[in-house]
Amino acid sequence: MKIGIIGVGYVGLVTGICLAEIGHDVTCVDIDTDKITRLKNGECPIYEPGLDEILAKNIKKKKVTFTNSIKEVTKKSEVIFIAVGTPSKKCGDADLTYVENVAREIGRNMDSYRLIVEKSTVPAATGKRIEHTIEINLPKKYQGKSKKIEFDVASNPEFLREGSAVYDFMNPDRIVLGVQSKRAEKILREIYKPLNAKMVVTNMNSAELIKHASNSFLATKISFINAVAQICDYVGGDVLEVAEGMGLDKRIGRSFLDAGVGYGGSCFPKDVDAFVRLAEKSGYDFKLLKEVRNINEDQKLSFIKLIEDKLWIVKNKTIGILGLSFKPNTDDMRSAPSIDIIKALQAEGAKIKAYDPQAVSKAKDIFSNVAFVKDPYSLAKGCDCLILLTEWAEFKELNFKKIKGVMNHATIFDGRNHLSSRKEELKSLGYEYYSIGRGIV
Ligand code: UDX
Repeated sequence: MKIGIIGVGYVGLVTGICLAEIGHDVTCVDIDTDKITRLKNGECPIYEPGLDEILAKNIKKKKVTFTNSIKEVTKKSEVIFIAVGTPSKKCGDADLTYVENVAREIGRNMDSYRLIVEKSTVPAATGKRIEHTIEINLPKKYQGKSKKIEFDVASNPEFLREGSAVYDFMNPDRIVLGVQSKRAEKILREIYKPLNAKMVVTNMNSAELIKHASNSFLATKISFINAVAQICDYVGGDVLEVAEGMGLDKRIGRSFLDAGVGYGGSCFPKDVDAFVRLAEKSGYDFKLLKEVRNINEDQKLSFIKLIEDKLWIVKNKTIGILGLSFKPNTDDMRSAPSIDIIKALQAEGAKIKAYDPQAVSKAKDIFSNVAFVKDPYSLAKGCDCLILLTEWAEFKELNFKKIKGVMNHATIFDGRNHLSSRKEELKSLGYEYYSIGRGIV
């Protein structure tokens, strides 16, 4: 099938290339001409495991092409996915400016049936807005009942996790189709047929709500276990064992019960805010989700408090940050906990060094007065403590005997409980090792 993808960010790019991989002819468009040029040259503008291989393969097979023209994509594609960004406004609402612009452009360039698919994460009832915007922007000759052209709008939210997006696309737990016509349903079933996945077919509003509710529930699970971790620190419990004991209950499940410095990323913070706002505008005060957000913010503050408490004086201390990205296996820094934590420590007068396997180039645009180093060992040199904020696998294999030898003081704050399996070894090496929810208070 001929498919257009409008917006080649983390979601659009993965979706477009994977759709080509499963056999479709895909054209990707973005207003960012530099990004399109790099993609045409086979350069992947984001770090996502496995993506560059299938990008190169499908460019070679001419299954995926790139352009800056929405007109071109609309003319040549029967199905058009809207995958543009929906950033948060100050009030928490999703900013749908880009979505509206794209819907208008599509309308102006339509000359026959098109299925327009909402891939971006949008609040419920957005699909209706897109439909109306296309309607009123159709070429004049198609205005009016008799001559208007047929088109459908559908919602098809994504559940891709950064760092495993290609795997998640190819192995979905479910594909959600929010449709208003049998024709739209048939086309989308055809598109995803090669994946042989469970399909949930519903109306557009419900499909949009499934996305917001799923992400908000995952964020709720994380804040719940972080609240339990706070209690563990006070009563002397071990949150890792509590999470294991809880997770064995099939109704709960172990995943997303990892206590730490809290969630970041481009989705959870934004989707929780948008869901709270959607609820408010619909007349419901989503107090539970507001508390999920508060707990997530408090988690960073209590971690900073722990560091200040154990270092006593932060001013002029040299602190090494292990991991900057919001999660491992991605270079994405959006809403990463490291941002607030580093800025708070700098405000106290700390000197910050930082290492991350992938995110340094993006981090350089965010931080000032941070010394970025090329490896964990040069990071540790002269540090009064190390703070682990992202659980990159390589950090678990570090030679902590060698690291201790170059540090001023052997103190580690483990914001992801990532080194818990090496806790005894660290203590026997003489480290002061602090983690989250392991009964330190
Ligand atoms: C999330 C959803 O998982 C995905 O389905 C949706 O499509 C997009 O948003 P993503 O934000 O890429 O994906 O990463 P995810 O793995 O969900 O982690 C989000 C944040 O939660 C990260 O900062 C991570 O460190 C944190 N997290 C995750 C925890 O703190 N504890 C956990 O147990 C799990």
